[in-house]
Amino acid sequence: MKIFLDTANLESIKKFNDMGLLDGITTNPSLMSKEGGNPKNAMEEITKIIQGDVSLEVVSTEYSGMMEEGKRLREYGDNVVVKVPMTPDGLKACKSFSSQGIPVNVTLIFSANQALLAAKSGAKYVSPFIGRLDDIGQDGMNLIKEIKEIFSNYTFNTQILVASVRHPLHVIDAAKIGADVVTLPPGVLDKMLQHPLTKIGLDNFLADWEKLKQKNPDTKI
Ligand code: E4P
Repeated sequence: MKIFLDTANLESIKKFNDMGLLDGITTNPSLMSKEGGNPKNAMEEITKIIQGDVSLEVVSTEYSGMMEEGKRLREYGDNVVVKVPMTPDGLKACKSFSSQGIPVNVTLIFSANQALLAAKSGAKYVSPFIGRLDDIGQDGMNLIKEIKEIFSNYTFNTQILVASVRHPLHVIDAAKIGADVVTLPPGVLDKMLQHPLTKIGLDNFLADWEKLKQKNPDTKI
């Protein structure tokens, strides 16, 4: 399963990219706004740091505006995936971009039917928002299962990109289902790295080594 980071925060992107964990990045207007700086600089930097796919989202809601914005977004790099909303105009733009070989991520997917339609329009990625479904008392992970089952019946070249991930258990469940990609807020990826027994184990190893070193002061590893 590929791991994308769901952020426009350069510090987090560099940190996890240096660990070799990142296959790509997803952003959206809210994530850009959260960082507060000039989004142009952020988009330039992110597309340089990351080799893999970087989803940059249009803000126009009608077809021609989406096409213009998508083409401008692609100027940031060949790794830019144009992110469009799951609307009739979004699907029309998805179809046009895909026909030109420009990859598209269709975002704000909340049903299996929406995912099916986005795949038919040629999307490279569909982004079902599981956390937001959980928030309203629906089972977000069940949507991933449904989309996986439907896609496995056909030959779409569309990847399931699990979005709106809230915690590490979401990641395990998505991996068990066989989702292609999860996009993770930095906090979730941080939690995945940690286990209390790892910290206790390391503290004990270091304390024992210190005791040994006192008896053998010249020893080095
Ligand atoms: C995905 O591409 C979106 O940016 C993101 O996962 C939305 O998550 P949220 O529901 O936490 O805002």
